[in-house]
Amino acid sequence: MAQADKKLHIGIDLGTSRSSTAADNGEKRWITSYVGWPKDFVAAQVVGKEVLFGDEALENRLSLQICRPLERGIIREGIERSEEAVKAIIRHLVELVSKDSDARIHAVVGVPAESLNINKLAIRKAVSEYVHSLMVVSEPFAVAYGMGQLKNAMVIDIGAGTTDFCIMHGAIPGEDDQRTNLNAGDHIDEQLFSNLSEKYPNATFNINMVRQFKEQYSFVGDIDDEIKVEIPVDGKPVMHDIKDEMRRACESILPALIETTAELIAGFDPEFQAKVKKNIILAGGGSLIRGIDGVLQEALKEYGSCKVTCVDDPLFAGSLGALKLAQDMPASYWETL
Ligand SMILES: Nc1ncnc2c1ncn2[C@@H]1O[C@H](COP(=O)(O)OP(=O)(O)OP(=O)(O)O)[C@@H](O)[C@H]1O
Ligand SMILES: [Mg+2]
Repeated sequence: MAQADKKLHIGIDLGTSRSSTAADNGEKRWITSYVGWPKDFVAAQVVGKEVLFGDEALENRLSLQICRPLERGIIREGIERSEEAVKAIIRHLVELVSKDSDARIHAVVGVPAESLNINKLAIRKAVSEYVHSLMVVSEPFAVAYGMGQLKNAMVIDIGAGTTDFCIMHGAIPGEDDQRTNLNAGDHIDEQLFSNLSEKYPNATFNINMVRQFKEQYSFVGDIDDEIKVEIPVDGKPVMHDIKDEMRRACESILPALIETTAELIAGFDPEFQAKVKKNIILAGGGSLIRGIDGVLQEALKEYGSCKVTCVDDPLFAGSLGALKLAQDMPASYWETL
């Protein structure tokens, strides 16, 4: 039983590909966002668990029914085991940082911006059994709060399923201050996969390998380095030059990134636009693409002088921000479950 006088604050960043969690007991963890259940009784004996998470689920995928709880940024209610997966993964994230704790859990969960309302309902349902108080916020708002960027700032979280944009203007951002588009990491993976399939029809690779190439070599703009990777052809390892294909795939998210940034700024109070333009912050795994801050800053020049920077720790910026919110938030903002 949770003790009424003890509180544990937890911040969670629920992501399409990776989720992270941080608590005010100092614990901090992340997992890849996979949940898997044994396919049958033989599989149950092989894996020896009722449910597996993260890389362990992926490694045992042949024995499991595997699910990514967020698809394109939305918890898909009633589809496959998506709802059950959300419930299991949030519970697991809470347990990872609250082992042996008998405190009441106060959790702030960050999710993609545009589907906030749909996700709020699903998360409330999922956590009501073991979370005492809850607030669901948009991911970029959590990042901005964690950095103390409460006004005249714009956070762009380039994740796997979605890129989320949020303008901070000195109050909790509303719907008009946020946008989401689907031009993010998964989209780059699909583009790179198709670029490579076209150039190297005899090479055998899958989308996981392509994602790993991207995470090692992603870039936009001009670079001098060569990019060569080993891909099997007829079972033999062969080196392949993938530089042009990598650049095209990574740059495929730029038009929508530039357009949405410009649009959101243009819709903002004109007196504050110049200040926001000087404080654009990139977060999420996509902020690790080499050169992306410089290219975005250059492209936005036609809208006036801009400054684009990247967060230091894209993996934990969201969950640490959510934790800070949980610690600072007055009682009246919490939803008691
Ligand atoms: N060095 C890198 N270069 C380019 N992309 C990267 C790099 N490292 C990670 N990524 C990509 O970033 C994405 C994961 O980022 P992040 O953890 O912020 O997303 P997420 O929170 O799971 O997704 P979402 O916010 O859309 O729900 C993946 O597509 C991953 O391949
Ligand atoms: Mg994310």
